Amino acid sequence: MGKEEAMRKLEERIRNCQKCPLGKLRTHAVPGSGSYDAKVMFVGEAPGYWEDQKGLPFVGRAGKILDELLAEIGLSREEVYITNIVKCRPPENRDPTEEEIKACSPYLDRQIDIIRPKVIVPLGRHSMRYILEKFGFEAEPISKIHGKTFEAHTLFGRFVIMPMYHPAVALYRPPLKEELRKDFRRLKELIEGQP
Ligand code: SF4
Ligand code: URA
Repeated sequence: MGKEEAMRKLEERIRNCQKCPLGKLRTHAVPGSGSYDAKVMFVGEAPGYWEDQKGLPFVGRAGKILDELLAEIGLSREEVYITNIVKCRPPENRDPTEEEIKACSPYLDRQIDIIRPKVIVPLGRHSMRYILEKFGFEAEPISKIHGKTFEAHTLFGRFVIMPMYHPAVALYRPPLKEELRKDFRRLKELIEGQP
């Protein structure tokens, strides 16, 4: 089975999934969007109101900021892959629970296996914790480890994890937008240095 077919099947399973209570509350599940051959994969937290309405990741206010940050380093949405740890919207945009993350994260694991990115960028502390721990690293406060790199080794080879602040922080803590910008510039350097 090729990448394309594997991803389409997985997306179909996500759209029909009822493995946790969020399945009953959603308008649309949000599997992810972008290139299945992406070198860079961004992993947010969970869909919000607009993502749930449209079935697409990062299309609300946080998405506008992500678009800006991508544009500043010359990346388009079409060449990266964007998804979340939890694929359905938690009510009132509350944080996803441990149970929801546990139920949903196998989809993310599978997406990583199929796409095999060179760089994974967890956005925000929930995603940072999940991804770092999955690959054997210890989570730390996001204020301390954003922009740092962790080299992970898997059966499909090495790749780099670079955690960042969640783009939504730029909405209520403007100075952190500068930190995000700096981290995106580091990401650009990292990508340019990749084979
Ligand atoms: Fe399934 Fe994930 Fe949606 Fe829960 S959040 S119903 S596990 S797709
Ligand atoms: N915030 C997220 O973490 N993910 C989205 O898709 C939108 C907002």
